[in-house]
Amino acid sequence: MSRILLTGASSGIGEAAALLLAKHHQVVATVRTPEARAILVEAAADAGVSLDVVLVDVTDGGGVQGVVADLEVTGGIDVLVHNAGTGYVGTLEQLEFSALREAMEVNFFGAAQMVQAVLPQMRAKGSGKVIVVSSIGGAVGQPFNDAYCAAKFAVEGLLESLHPVAASVGISISIVEPGPVATKFIANLQGLDEVLSGDPNDPYASAKANYMARLGSPERMAGMQTSMDVAEVLVDIVNSAAPKLRYQTSQWSTDFVATKLSDLDGTAVTQMTGAWVAD
Ligand SMILES: NC(=O)c1ccc[n+]([C@@H]2O[C@H](COP(=O)([O-])OP(=O)(O)OC[C@H]3O[C@@H](n4cnc5c(N)ncnc54)[C@H](OP(=O)(O)O)[C@@H]3O)[C@@H](O)[C@H]2O)c1
Repeated sequence: MSRILLTGASSGIGEAAALLLAKHHQVVATVRTPEARAILVEAAADAGVSLDVVLVDVTDGGGVQGVVADLEVTGGIDVLVHNAGTGYVGTLEQLEFSALREAMEVNFFGAAQMVQAVLPQMRAKGSGKVIVVSSIGGAVGQPFNDAYCAAKFAVEGLLESLHPVAASVGISISIVEPGPVATKFIANLQGLDEVLSGDPNDPYASAKANYMARLGSPERMAGMQTSMDVAEVLVDIVNSAAPKLRYQTSQWSTDFVATKLSDLDGTAVTQMTGAWVAD
Protein backbone atom coordinates (compact mmCIF):
# COMPACT_ATOMS: atom_id res chain seq x y z
CA MET A 1 0.00 0.00 0.00
CA SER A 2 1.38 3.41 -1.00
CA ARG A 3 0.61 6.80 0.48
CA ILE A 4 -0.56 8.99 -2.38
CA LEU A 5 -1.02 12.75 -2.56
CA LEU A 6 -3.48 13.53 -5.36
CA THR A 7 -4.41 17.08 -6.43
CA GLY A 8 -7.59 18.36 -8.05
CA ALA A 9 -9.94 15.74 -6.61
CA SER A 10 -13.13 17.82 -6.51
CA SER A 11 -14.37 16.51 -9.86
CA GLY A 12 -13.59 14.65 -13.06
CA ILE A 13 -10.40 12.62 -13.40
CA GLY A 14 -9.11 13.57 -9.94
CA GLU A 15 -12.28 12.52 -8.13
CA ALA A 16 -12.49 9.21 -10.02
CA ALA A 17 -8.80 8.50 -9.40
CA ALA A 18 -9.03 9.36 -5.69
CA LEU A 19 -11.93 6.97 -5.15
CA LEU A 20 -10.35 4.19 -7.23
CA LEU A 21 -6.87 4.49 -5.72
CA ALA A 22 -8.34 4.56 -2.19
CA LYS A 23 -9.49 0.94 -2.63
CA HIS A 24 -5.89 -0.25 -2.30
CA HIS A 25 -3.84 2.73 -1.15
CA GLN A 26 -3.84 5.47 1.47
CA VAL A 27 -4.94 8.57 -0.44
CA VAL A 28 -4.66 12.19 0.62
CA ALA A 29 -6.77 14.11 -1.89
CA THR A 30 -6.73 17.89 -2.34
CA VAL A 31 -9.63 20.21 -3.14
CA ARG A 32 -9.97 23.98 -2.86
CA THR A 33 -13.05 24.59 -0.72
CA PRO A 34 -14.69 23.19 2.42
CA GLU A 35 -17.82 22.51 0.33
CA ALA A 36 -15.83 20.38 -2.13
CA ARG A 37 -14.19 18.57 0.78
CA ALA A 38 -17.60 17.70 2.30
CA ILE A 39 -18.86 16.38 -1.06
CA LEU A 40 -15.74 14.26 -1.61
CA VAL A 41 -15.81 12.85 1.91
CA GLU A 42 -19.44 11.83 1.31
CA ALA A 43 -18.57 10.28 -2.07
CA ALA A 44 -15.82 8.27 -0.39
CA ALA A 45 -18.24 7.04 2.27
CA ASP A 46 -20.74 6.06 -0.45
CA ALA A 47 -17.96 4.18 -2.27
CA GLY A 48 -16.94 2.42 0.95
CA VAL A 49 -13.40 3.81 0.95
CA SER A 50 -11.43 5.98 3.32
CA LEU A 51 -9.94 9.23 2.06
CA ASP A 52 -8.13 12.11 3.75
CA VAL A 53 -9.13 15.38 2.10
CA VAL A 54 -7.09 18.56 2.54
CA LEU A 55 -7.51 22.06 1.13
CA VAL A 56 -4.91 23.47 -1.21
CA ASP A 57 -4.77 25.83 -4.15
CA VAL A 58 -1.79 24.70 -6.24
CA THR A 59 -0.91 28.30 -7.07
CA ASP A 60 -0.36 29.03 -3.37
CA GLY A 61 3.29 28.17 -2.69
CA GLY A 62 2.93 28.44 1.08
CA GLY A 63 -0.16 26.22 1.06
CA VAL A 64 1.56 23.58 -1.08
CA GLN A 65 4.64 23.55 1.19
CA GLY A 66 2.40 23.34 4.27
CA VAL A 67 0.45 20.30 3.04
CA VAL A 68 3.59 18.46 1.98
CA ALA A 69 5.36 19.26 5.28
CA ASP A 70 2.34 18.02 7.27
CA LEU A 71 2.39 14.75 5.35
CA GLU A 72 6.11 14.33 5.92
CA VAL A 73 5.66 14.23 9.69
CA THR A 74 2.78 11.75 9.45
CA GLY A 75 4.46 9.11 7.28
CA GLY A 76 5.60 10.84 4.10
CA ILE A 77 4.46 10.62 0.49
CA ASP A 78 5.25 7.65 -1.75
CA VAL A 79 3.42 8.91 -4.83
CA LEU A 80 2.36 12.33 -6.09
CA VAL A 81 -0.47 12.33 -8.62
CA HIS A 82 -0.67 15.93 -9.76
CA ASN A 83 -3.89 16.32 -11.71
CA ALA A 84 -5.17 19.85 -10.98
CA GLY A 85 -5.48 21.99 -14.10
CA THR A 86 -7.75 24.31 -16.03
CA GLY A 87 -8.34 24.97 -19.72
CA TYR A 88 -8.17 28.35 -21.46
CA VAL A 89 -9.42 29.11 -24.96
CA GLY A 90 -8.59 32.06 -27.15
CA THR A 91 -6.15 33.02 -29.86
CA LEU A 92 -3.08 35.04 -28.85
CA GLU A 93 -4.18 38.31 -30.46
CA GLN A 94 -7.38 38.29 -28.40
CA LEU A 95 -6.01 36.83 -25.17
CA GLU A 96 -5.75 39.07 -22.15
CA PHE A 97 -2.16 38.74 -20.98
CA SER A 98 -3.54 38.08 -17.53
CA ALA A 99 -5.26 34.94 -18.89
CA LEU A 100 -1.99 33.75 -20.41
CA ARG A 101 -0.23 34.29 -17.10
CA GLU A 102 -3.04 32.56 -15.19
CA ALA A 103 -2.91 29.52 -17.48
CA MET A 104 0.81 29.24 -16.74
CA GLU A 105 0.24 29.90 -13.04
CA VAL A 106 -2.26 27.06 -12.57
CA ASN A 107 -1.08 24.50 -15.10
CA PHE A 108 2.68 25.05 -15.15
CA PHE A 109 3.79 26.76 -11.94
CA GLY A 110 1.19 24.75 -10.01
CA ALA A 111 2.72 21.52 -11.29
CA ALA A 112 6.30 22.76 -10.78
CA GLN A 113 5.48 23.82 -7.23
CA MET A 114 3.85 20.51 -6.28
CA VAL A 115 6.64 18.40 -7.77
CA GLN A 116 9.40 20.56 -6.26
CA ALA A 117 7.74 20.29 -2.84
CA VAL A 118 7.69 16.47 -2.76
CA LEU A 119 11.19 15.88 -4.16
CA PRO A 120 13.21 16.38 -0.94
CA GLN A 121 11.36 13.74 1.05
CA MET A 122 11.30 11.25 -1.84
CA ARG A 123 15.03 11.81 -2.45
CA ALA A 124 15.77 11.32 1.26
CA LYS A 125 13.90 7.98 1.16
CA GLY A 126 15.57 7.01 -2.12
CA SER A 127 12.22 6.23 -3.74
CA GLY A 128 9.03 7.84 -4.99
CA LYS A 129 6.75 8.22 -7.98
CA VAL A 130 5.68 11.52 -9.52
CA ILE A 131 2.77 11.28 -11.96
CA VAL A 132 1.52 14.46 -13.63
CA VAL A 133 -1.61 14.73 -15.76
CA SER A 134 -0.66 16.71 -18.85
CA SER A 135 -2.73 16.37 -22.05
CA ILE A 136 -2.39 15.56 -25.73
CA GLY A 137 -2.24 19.38 -25.71
CA GLY A 138 1.16 19.00 -24.03
CA ALA A 139 2.42 17.39 -27.24
CA VAL A 140 0.39 18.98 -30.05
CA GLY A 141 -0.37 22.72 -30.14
CA GLN A 142 -4.03 23.22 -31.02
CA PRO A 143 -5.99 26.19 -32.38
CA PHE A 144 -7.53 28.45 -29.71
CA ASN A 145 -5.61 26.53 -27.04
CA ASP A 146 -2.55 28.80 -27.19
CA ALA A 147 -2.37 29.46 -23.43
CA TYR A 148 -3.34 25.94 -22.32
CA CYS A 149 -0.97 24.16 -24.72
CA ALA A 150 1.86 26.57 -23.87
CA ALA A 151 1.44 25.67 -20.20
CA LYS A 152 1.18 21.92 -20.82
CA PHE A 153 4.21 22.04 -23.20
CA ALA A 154 6.08 23.76 -20.37
CA VAL A 155 5.03 21.00 -17.97
CA GLU A 156 6.32 18.37 -20.38
CA GLY A 157 9.65 20.17 -20.90
CA LEU A 158 10.13 20.55 -17.16
CA LEU A 159 9.39 16.92 -16.38
CA GLU A 160 11.24 15.41 -19.35
CA SER A 161 14.30 17.39 -18.24
CA LEU A 162 13.90 16.40 -14.60
CA HIS A 163 13.28 12.73 -15.29
CA PRO A 164 16.86 11.35 -15.62
CA VAL A 165 18.10 13.38 -12.66
CA ALA A 166 15.15 12.30 -10.49
CA ALA A 167 15.80 8.69 -11.55
CA SER A 168 19.38 9.02 -10.30
CA VAL A 169 17.97 9.43 -6.76
CA GLY A 170 15.27 6.76 -7.09
CA ILE A 171 12.28 8.88 -8.18
CA SER A 172 10.27 8.04 -11.30
CA ILE A 173 8.58 10.77 -13.32
CA SER A 174 5.55 9.99 -15.49
CA ILE A 175 3.61 12.32 -17.76
CA VAL A 176 0.02 11.34 -18.64
CA GLU A 177 -1.58 12.54 -21.86
CA PRO A 178 -5.35 12.10 -22.07
CA GLY A 179 -7.30 13.07 -25.17
CA PRO A 180 -10.85 14.35 -24.67
CA VAL A 181 -12.40 13.24 -21.39
CA ALA A 182 -16.06 13.79 -20.43
CA THR A 183 -15.66 16.03 -17.37
CA LYS A 184 -16.55 19.59 -16.35
CA PHE A 185 -13.30 20.67 -18.03
CA ILE A 186 -15.02 22.07 -21.15
CA ALA A 187 -17.72 23.84 -19.11
CA ASN A 188 -14.97 25.28 -16.89
CA LEU A 189 -12.92 26.55 -19.85
CA GLN A 190 -11.82 30.15 -19.30
CA GLY A 191 -12.48 32.39 -22.31
CA LEU A 192 -15.27 30.21 -23.75
CA ASP A 193 -17.83 33.05 -23.72
CA GLU A 194 -15.61 35.16 -25.97
CA VAL A 195 -15.09 32.28 -28.39
CA LEU A 196 -18.84 31.62 -28.48
CA SER A 197 -19.83 35.29 -28.76
CA GLY A 198 -20.50 35.04 -32.50
CA ASP A 199 -19.45 38.66 -33.11
CA PRO A 200 -19.75 39.05 -36.92
CA ASN A 201 -16.95 41.66 -36.90
CA ASP A 202 -14.53 39.24 -35.28
CA PRO A 203 -11.81 38.46 -37.88
CA TYR A 204 -11.54 34.98 -36.37
CA ALA A 205 -15.32 34.29 -36.32
CA SER A 206 -15.21 31.67 -39.02
CA ALA A 207 -12.14 29.89 -37.61
CA LYS A 208 -13.78 29.88 -34.16
CA ALA A 209 -17.07 28.48 -35.46
CA ASN A 210 -15.24 25.75 -37.33
CA TYR A 211 -13.12 24.92 -34.30
CA MET A 212 -16.17 24.76 -32.02
CA ALA A 213 -17.99 22.53 -34.54
CA ARG A 214 -15.06 20.10 -34.45
CA LEU A 215 -15.42 19.67 -30.69
CA GLY A 216 -18.58 17.62 -31.27
CA SER A 217 -17.40 15.91 -34.47
CA PRO A 218 -17.48 12.09 -34.79
CA GLU A 219 -13.70 12.13 -35.31
CA ARG A 220 -13.12 13.76 -31.91
CA MET A 221 -15.97 11.98 -30.12
CA ALA A 222 -14.33 8.68 -31.15
CA GLY A 223 -11.52 9.58 -28.73
CA MET A 224 -13.77 10.55 -25.82
CA GLN A 225 -12.99 8.79 -22.55
CA THR A 226 -14.58 8.76 -19.14
CA SER A 227 -12.85 9.94 -15.97
CA MET A 228 -12.79 6.31 -14.87
CA ASP A 229 -10.89 5.28 -18.04
CA VAL A 230 -8.16 7.78 -17.18
CA ALA A 231 -8.27 6.89 -13.47
CA GLU A 232 -7.57 3.26 -14.42
CA VAL A 233 -4.43 4.34 -16.31
CA LEU A 234 -3.31 6.30 -13.25
CA VAL A 235 -3.84 3.23 -11.06
CA ASP A 236 -1.73 1.14 -13.44
CA ILE A 237 1.11 3.68 -13.24
CA VAL A 238 0.91 3.84 -9.44
CA ASN A 239 1.10 0.03 -9.31
CA SER A 240 3.86 -0.28 -11.93
CA ALA A 241 7.26 -1.52 -10.79
CA ALA A 242 8.98 0.54 -13.51
CA PRO A 243 6.82 3.49 -14.63
CA LYS A 244 7.50 4.92 -18.07
CA LEU A 245 8.10 8.61 -18.76
CA ARG A 246 5.03 9.10 -20.93
CA TYR A 247 1.59 7.52 -21.16
CA GLN A 248 -1.25 8.29 -23.53
CA THR A 249 -4.55 7.14 -22.02
CA SER A 250 -6.06 5.54 -25.16
CA GLN A 251 -5.09 4.33 -28.61
CA TRP A 252 -6.80 7.47 -29.97
CA SER A 253 -4.49 9.65 -27.86
CA THR A 254 -1.44 7.64 -28.91
CA ASP A 255 -2.35 8.05 -32.60
CA PHE A 256 -2.92 11.78 -32.08
CA VAL A 257 0.40 12.37 -30.34
CA ALA A 258 2.18 10.16 -32.92
CA THR A 259 1.18 12.71 -35.58
CA LYS A 260 3.51 15.14 -33.87
CA LEU A 261 6.32 12.80 -33.02
CA SER A 262 6.80 11.67 -36.62
CA ASP A 263 6.40 15.23 -37.96
CA LEU A 264 9.88 16.70 -37.91
CA ASP A 265 9.08 19.81 -40.00
CA GLY A 266 5.55 20.46 -38.72
CA THR A 267 3.74 19.72 -41.98
CA ALA A 268 1.49 16.94 -40.63
CA VAL A 269 0.36 18.88 -37.55
CA THR A 270 -0.27 22.01 -39.65
CA GLN A 271 -2.40 20.00 -42.07
CA MET A 272 -4.37 18.40 -39.24
CA THR A 273 -5.10 21.46 -37.11
CA GLY A 274 -5.39 23.81 -40.11
CA ALA A 275 -8.33 21.71 -41.27
CA TRP A 276 -10.07 22.30 -37.95
CA VAL A 277 -10.45 26.03 -38.60
CA ALA A 278 -10.69 26.10 -42.40
CA ASP A 279 -13.99 26.73 -44.25
N1 LIG B 1 -11.20 16.76 -19.69
C1 LIG B 1 -10.35 16.73 -20.70
O1 LIG B 1 -10.77 16.67 -21.88
C2 LIG B 1 -8.86 16.68 -20.43
C3 LIG B 1 -8.02 16.29 -21.48
C4 LIG B 1 -6.64 16.24 -21.29
C5 LIG B 1 -6.12 16.59 -20.05
N2 LIG B 1 -6.95 17.00 -19.06
C6 LIG B 1 -6.33 17.36 -17.77
O2 LIG B 1 -6.87 16.56 -16.74
C7 LIG B 1 -6.76 17.25 -15.50
C8 LIG B 1 -8.10 17.14 -14.77
O3 LIG B 1 -9.10 17.78 -15.54
P1 LIG B 1 -10.62 17.26 -15.61
O4 LIG B 1 -10.91 16.95 -17.01
O5 LIG B 1 -10.88 16.23 -14.57
O6 LIG B 1 -11.39 18.64 -15.30
P2 LIG B 1 -12.17 19.17 -14.01
O7 LIG B 1 -13.30 18.24 -13.68
O8 LIG B 1 -12.49 20.59 -14.32
O9 LIG B 1 -11.10 19.05 -12.83
C9 LIG B 1 -10.05 19.96 -12.66
C10 LIG B 1 -9.58 19.86 -11.23
O10 LIG B 1 -8.47 20.75 -11.05
C11 LIG B 1 -8.76 21.57 -9.91
N3 LIG B 1 -8.08 22.86 -9.96
C12 LIG B 1 -8.16 23.81 -10.92
N4 LIG B 1 -7.41 24.87 -10.58
C13 LIG B 1 -6.84 24.58 -9.40
C14 LIG B 1 -5.96 25.25 -8.52
N5 LIG B 1 -5.50 26.49 -8.78
N6 LIG B 1 -5.59 24.63 -7.36
C15 LIG B 1 -6.04 23.40 -7.05
N7 LIG B 1 -6.89 22.69 -7.83
C16 LIG B 1 -7.28 23.29 -8.99
C17 LIG B 1 -10.26 21.73 -9.93
O11 LIG B 1 -10.70 22.20 -8.65
P3 LIG B 1 -11.98 23.20 -8.52
O12 LIG B 1 -13.20 22.31 -8.56
O13 LIG B 1 -11.76 23.85 -7.19
O14 LIG B 1 -11.93 24.16 -9.67
C18 LIG B 1 -10.66 20.29 -10.24
O15 LIG B 1 -10.59 19.49 -9.08
C19 LIG B 1 -6.32 18.67 -15.83
O16 LIG B 1 -4.93 18.81 -15.58
C20 LIG B 1 -6.59 18.79 -17.33
O17 LIG B 1 -5.71 19.72 -17.96
C21 LIG B 1 -8.30 17.04 -19.21
